[in-house]
Amino acid sequence: MNVVGISFSYADNSLQTRGLKLLNDKQLFTDMYEMLDFNMPVCNSNKSDGQVPDSVNKFCEVLEKADVLVFAISEATSHYSAGFKNAMDWLVVKSRFNAKLGTDYAITDKPIFVITFTPTVNPENGGRHFDMTTQLLGKLGANVIECHLINNSWKTVIPGGFNAVKSAYSAVKGFLGTYTPNSTNTRCKDDYSSLTWLKSYNEWDMAWRYEMKPIHRVNGMPWPRINDREKKIVEVPLKEDYKLRSMDYLDTQEARPIFDKQADIIINNNIKNIVDVGCRIGIVNDILQERGYTDYNYMGYDTSPQPINYAKEKWEDYSNIEYRCASMYDNNSVDFDVDCVIWSGVLLYNPTDHMKLFEDVTFKQYNAKHAIIQEPCQDQDADKWLPNMKLNTIEQDLHLYKDKYNYNDWIVNANVFSGRRRIAHIWL
Ligand SMILES: C[S@@+](CC[C@H](N)C(=O)[O-])C[C@H]1O[C@@H](n2cnc3c(N)ncnc32)[C@H](O)[C@@H]1O
Repeated sequence: MNVVGISFSYADNSLQTRGLKLLNDKQLFTDMYEMLDFNMPVCNSNKSDGQVPDSVNKFCEVLEKADVLVFAISEATSHYSAGFKNAMDWLVVKSRFNAKLGTDYAITDKPIFVITFTPTVNPENGGRHFDMTTQLLGKLGANVIECHLINNSWKTVIPGGFNAVKSAYSAVKGFLGTYTPNSTNTRCKDDYSSLTWLKSYNEWDMAWRYEMKPIHRVNGMPWPRINDREKKIVEVPLKEDYKLRSMDYLDTQEARPIFDKQADIIINNNIKNIVDVGCRIGIVNDILQERGYTDYNYMGYDTSPQPINYAKEKWEDYSNIEYRCASMYDNNSVDFDVDCVIWSGVLLYNPTDHMKLFEDVTFKQYNAKHAIIQEPCQDQDADKWLPNMKLNTIEQDLHLYKDKYNYNDWIVNANVFSGRRRIAHIWL
């Protein structure tokens, strides 16, 4: 039987550790540890992914291998000590904050003896934490057999002072004589509730890290956060470095028709190798994946670092999807033969020579056979526009593409700011 003693003290000359040593005078333990053997940091994780430092894994392995545990826990201001609670908190992190309490911790189903060594002589003192400790261990599925308090320890827990711990020793010994370990009781499945937790956690965490805000709405519709009180005509600024939230109105379900049509073109033409210029977060990937169209290569690039970093993180597990922080004026080579280049709301950056840029990148650089252009329509519904704003678009020039290439286009009208868009499919 594997009987393991653990002192939850971090002190060099700990009373709890020395008390356990005394208890082990007659080789009660297979192994004995103190917190300094693991040196677990203060619990600093709030993520239910089960990731813990190596020191915690080592601690958990020790617990898991044990058949019976003897915990020496000091009392601090009538409570269990911080070292003990810290260790228990790590067990919770390791079990992915498992909401099904008491089923998936390294001490679940283990019999535990709790001992507190204290220099105080009043028999009340030192053991005031026993109820809460028993309750905590019980919550984690452990079975506290007995709690033992050894008062007056500076006088009695001394070298050769086995008598001080004799009753605790006898209690453990007596139990060992009756106990048959059973290690497979109530463990729950790995993915029990943690995946839902993790998804919600990631959404919350990314919202903070990428400085997101609740979607801004005007007339009930997703809208950019622009000053609508300006009297003179203002031009929507065209920048190379946007925050993620600057165009978050395009990430809403209401904006989906703009990208649904682009996904239609990809799927209907069996396009497999895509470059997305000025992609922001590349919403088209969400749609393709949702529709089960997963067998393709995608490389999207944009000069705005924040949306690109967000997209990189979001799609990091997908080897076919890559995002880069890069400019359309540079050479951005890929290791697949490009079928299609997407220009969604991007050619408007080049009102004077958009066609040259389009041809240089689509045909000369990538040798692609297809392209998708998305541009805001000059005519917007009154409730989706501001009369004092000047629209950036090259929609009026799309006939030049129609005259030169195979061309088809569609108008979609999404319920967002400037939601009427022209989407063109151009192919050779
Ligand atoms: C109107 S947004 C369109 C974003 C996305 N394609 C869409 O349809 O929602 C234009 C994007 O072009 C990016 N951009 C601006 N200048 C660029 C450049 N030189 N190279 C690549 N991207 C650029 C901006 O950062 C911005 O994300």
